[in-house]
Parts: sequence; C-alpha cells; structure tokens
Amino acid sequence: MDAYHKWSHHDQSVPQAAVSFFQRNGYVVLTSFCTHEQIADLRAEAAKIVQQFHQTPDTQTAIFTTKQQDRIVDDYFLSSAANVRCFLEEKQPSDSPKAVNKIGHALHDLNATFGAFSRLPSTRVVARALGLQHPLLVQSMYILKNARVGGEVRAHRDATFVIADPPGTRHCLGYWWALQDATLQNGCLYVVPGSHVDGVALREMVRERDQTRVVGDDSECMYDEAQFVPLVVAAGDLVLLHGGVVHKSGENLSDQSRHAYSMHVVETAVASRCWLQRPAELPFLPL
Ligand code: FE2
Repeated sequence: MDAYHKWSHHDQSVPQAAVSFFQRNGYVVLTSFCTHEQIADLRAEAAKIVQQFHQTPDTQTAIFTTKQQDRIVDDYFLSSAANVRCFLEEKQPSDSPKAVNKIGHALHDLNATFGAFSRLPSTRVVARALGLQHPLLVQSMYILKNARVGGEVRAHRDATFVIADPPGTRHCLGYWWALQDATLQNGCLYVVPGSHVDGVALREMVRERDQTRVVGDDSECMYDEAQFVPLVVAAGDLVLLHGGVVHKSGENLSDQSRHAYSMHVVETAVASRCWLQRPAELPFLPL
C-alpha cells in the first residue's frame, strides 16, 4: 500500500486506502492539501512573528541570559501553552536572523491566520476519518528548520508530549503541513511504520508544579536506522502522525529552509499530568 494519497477538497472525505494505511502504519500523507495562497499566508504570518521577536530584545534576555536559566526556560515553555512564543536553535546566538527554530504553542487560538487555517472544515473531516469523534485542538507550532542551522529532532512519539485522557489511549493525532518541500537534504521527517502499536511503557513529559519532567524509558524509541522511512513531501502536502508512531528528523545541512506547520488534536481531553495546560480564560476548544 502507498503512503501518499491525493487529497481532494471536493470529496470532503479521506480515501479509504489512506485511512487503512494510517491504521496499519501510524502515518499517511495527503498530497496537495494546501493551496499556494494558504502556504504564502502562513509563511508571511510566521515571518511577522519572528521579526517581532527580534525587535523585542527584553524578551530574549529574559529567557536565555539569567543564572536560573532552567527555571526560566521552564516558565517560558510551560506558559507557551497559552501564548505565541519563539524558541531558539541551541547552537545559534539569539540575535542571529536564523536563531528561531519554532513558534508555539497556541497559534491556533491567538493568531487569526493560523486559527482560520487550523479550523478549516477539511481538518475536521480528517480527524473524524482517523477515528476522533470529538477532536479537541490543543497545540500548534510553526517549525522553521533554517538552512544550515536547523537542528536534529531525535526519535520520539508525540504522545510523550501531548498526553490524552483517558489514560492509555495514547491517541493524539498530529497534523504536519509542509510549507516548503521537505527533502532528504533539508531534514524531512523519518517514521518507523507500525511503531504506533509497539511497546507499552510510553514516555511522558509531565508537569510537576512549575517544572517539567520526562518519565519513562527512552529505549522505546530506539529502532534500527534501517527501520526509519523518509517522508519526502512537497510544499502543501499534509503528513498525519498517530501519537504513538516513532519519528524524527535530521539536521538541515542544506541551503534550503524547511518550514512546516504542525498541530495536535486529542479525543475529548488532555490529561491533568500533561505539561500542556490552559488557564480558565483560554480553554482548549474543539477543532
Ligand atoms: Fe513529533
């Protein structure tokens, strides 16, 4: 069976072959999901956010230059659940124009452009087709993976970071739209087909008061290199990832950036131990 399936807005449904592939392998690609205009709008909006970040030096110093760096970073990270925050490449100075590697995690609720795109009727059609009857949209991020500096993302399961309730469901669903071509050279995704049904000891990033901690055995993500399959996709394609499927991406050593927009939905609720929590005034909303 093929991982790549043509998406048609006119059908308002996901091809059965795509659903079957997802159920068996934990991922699938719906090609040509976005229009050129949608891609341009999202990229322009992200560029504005990055520009604003660089024009606000106080923010940067508060995050990265105090002795209590870990605690500050935790505050900054935890509160990003209800904010639009920029995160930086580890090896880049914060004033470098390529320093920002990610914007998160409430773009879908706080930014009109990302909000409208995230809640297109077609994203609901996809969630329902893949088994989520009451999808709750809980997290979004814009990933830049800039040319020459974009860092590696090590093998993980998204369900480690987005913990769904009730316990054991491990079923968050990740949407990952390529906003530029993702190639072997610029750090495309790699997945382990079928890994969403392997293993039981799921690692979890949990919140303990004002800190985060990852609990569980990280060996669950250690697969042989040969088991990872590259997902080479074109700008506009949508990759869907089951919360349990192991995936990673390499460094971007090329001259081409690899922008993507990603969001996660869960069925019904986020677990109370999950790092991702919202204040009462900004609740999670349905997809
Ligand atoms: Fe991921």
